[in-house]
Amino acid sequence: VLEADGADLGVLCVGGRIDAVGRTEDLVRRVASLGIPPPGLRTIDAAGGLITPGLVDAHTHLVFAGTREAELQQRQAGATYLDILAAGGGILSTVERTRSASDEELLALGRARVRAMLEQGVTTAEAKSGYGLDAATELRQLSLIEVLRAEGPVDLVPTFLGAHAVPRELRRRPDGLDTYVTSVIEQQLPRVAEQGVARSCDVFCERGVFDVERSRKILEAGARLGLRPRLHADEIADSGAAALAAELSAASADHLAAVSREGIAALAAAADSGSPVVATLLPATTLYLMSEHYAPARQLIEAGVPVALGSDLNPGTSPTLSLSLVMSLACLKLRMTPREALVAATVNAARALDMEGEVGSIEPGRRADIVVWEVPSVEQLPYWLGGRLARVVVRAGRVALEHQALPGVRRR
Ligand code: NIG
Ligand code: FE
Repeated sequence: VLEADGADLGVLCVGGRIDAVGRTEDLVRRVASLGIPPPGLRTIDAAGGLITPGLVDAHTHLVFAGTREAELQQRQAGATYLDILAAGGGILSTVERTRSASDEELLALGRARVRAMLEQGVTTAEAKSGYGLDAATELRQLSLIEVLRAEGPVDLVPTFLGAHAVPRELRRRPDGLDTYVTSVIEQQLPRVAEQGVARSCDVFCERGVFDVERSRKILEAGARLGLRPRLHADEIADSGAAALAAELSAASADHLAAVSREGIAALAAAADSGSPVVATLLPATTLYLMSEHYAPARQLIEAGVPVALGSDLNPGTSPTLSLSLVMSLACLKLRMTPREALVAATVNAARALDMEGEVGSIEPGRRADIVVWEVPSVEQLPYWLGGRLARVVVRAGRVALEHQALPGVRRR
């Protein structure tokens, strides 16, 4: 974090990368020594605003069609998320809407969401498939993520989540679950790997969805094809998914709202052994599921487990595009400090995506993804609840978003 408040500090970016960080007078000298002519230089005055790396959203289901507002009322009436899924709703209704949506519709929705993320200061986001549940639609989702990535302005890191649920067409068959697991492993995964459209493979490892044994089979098959494992782990009930993540050296174990003591110990041991599994926590989902049982962030942090944050943007359990709101919830509900929340939404989120050498910190050599905030301190980021606080967002050295001073935000 560069807290410009008081000191005259700056960041010099050259050719889309961070070149130097430090006192402005030193940076001016560096510019001269590099021989950059004045017209080639664009100066942005942070005017006392906080400067941070571009935020990294470590968990999203970016590409989907349709909305599921009826589930909110079903939950108010006492139905649980897993009841709704078991009855053929939930994820499965989004699968139906996504399968029947055109590429243009999905791209238009995706573009609007990417734009809203950028407004929040997000410059990198993970994006999962998982609303196709057949080879053709899973591949289509991943190729649309690639189109959105290439368009910018937010970098997207694609994850294959064919094992999100068993599709409707197989659910009535007694062997439907295993038939689907086989098709994920034998039909979907090889094509995903061959087309190079995903970097990792995710599984919704949850009671009543995919158990630990089946999740292990899928993730090992993905790993053999070069896809890094990650998991939806112990979101609603503990099923030993955190320990599986540690066993497989997964990039991250996500959710963890119901993780057991053994699960925390397994993640702590992985961190100790030098191949940490990032715990990616998604508190907006817990809030939206009307649960009071939040992930044990303090225990994880105290056990030495790197903690990241994500929006979990999806139409069922977290219809939010606001990583700022998630950072506030991290403080209010997970009892993280504002600095821990910022680390979780930058460096550790980058780590969860295997991108720590590229983004998530302001240091020479990293991609020039930088946010100038309307507020002067790290503490004020989560303090403004649901605030839109990014004033300038630089992505790969170019100004991707620029606002005048935002009304309604007191800076000091
Ligand atoms: O992270 N739990 C599984 N996947 C998403 C929800 C997806 C959906 O309900 O559409 C999650 O909560
Ligand atoms: Fe999710």
